[in-house]
Amino acid sequence: MEAFRDRRIVVCVTGSIAAYKTCDLVFTLRKADARPVVALSAAAAKLVTAETFRALSGEAVHTDMWGDADHSMPHISLVEDADAVIVAPATANVIAHAALGLAGDLIGALLLCATCPVVVAPAMNVEMWKHPAVQRNVARLREDGITIVDPVSGELACRVQGQGKMAPVETILAATAERL
Ligand SMILES: Cc1cc2nc3c(=O)[nH]c(=O)nc-3n(C[C@H](O)[C@H](O)[C@H](O)COP(=O)(O)O)c2cc1C
Repeated sequence: MEAFRDRRIVVCVTGSIAAYKTCDLVFTLRKADARPVVALSAAAAKLVTAETFRALSGEAVHTDMWGDADHSMPHISLVEDADAVIVAPATANVIAHAALGLAGDLIGALLLCATCPVVVAPAMNVEMWKHPAVQRNVARLREDGITIVDPVSGELACRVQGQGKMAPVETILAATAERL
């Protein structure tokens, strides 16, 4: 965890039920003396509130591109001094957006602006994960230099068995530490 001391880590949370586990990831970063800042997609904000992440990160949470007094263009300012970006959980949707380079929302746009290492931890239903479109998009992200932390197998929130659970927080952080 020493690797995270004083590091600026942008944590992008997207609309998977696994978003609750990212609360622990953010808190773990904070305990490691990192400086996490959270970007929350609209779908993620339906599952875990911005207020929860604000309390855990100690910083304002960013939910859209249109900024505030401190960040007039958060898609640029959030990542310009970032040491790493973590997308956890990463939905099939954000993976597709990133594979295409779509910048229609804050997370899509900041991923295009980031020059630091990017770590993506997918989480989704097993059939979604196996779908050729998702696998194509994941392969594209790997080609683009993004670290993919594969989902693990087990009982999913939809009560089926298979691969699709977000990797454990420690695994995601270990993969990130390797890229710092
Ligand atoms: C309760 C609930 C759980 C969901 N879990 C997942 C999930 O684990 N993975 C996924 O790819 N999509 C999941 N979705 C669908 C996404 O929320 C949806 O595709 C959304 O548009 C994603 O937007 P975002 O990528 O901007 O967060 C879920 C939807 C609901 C209602």
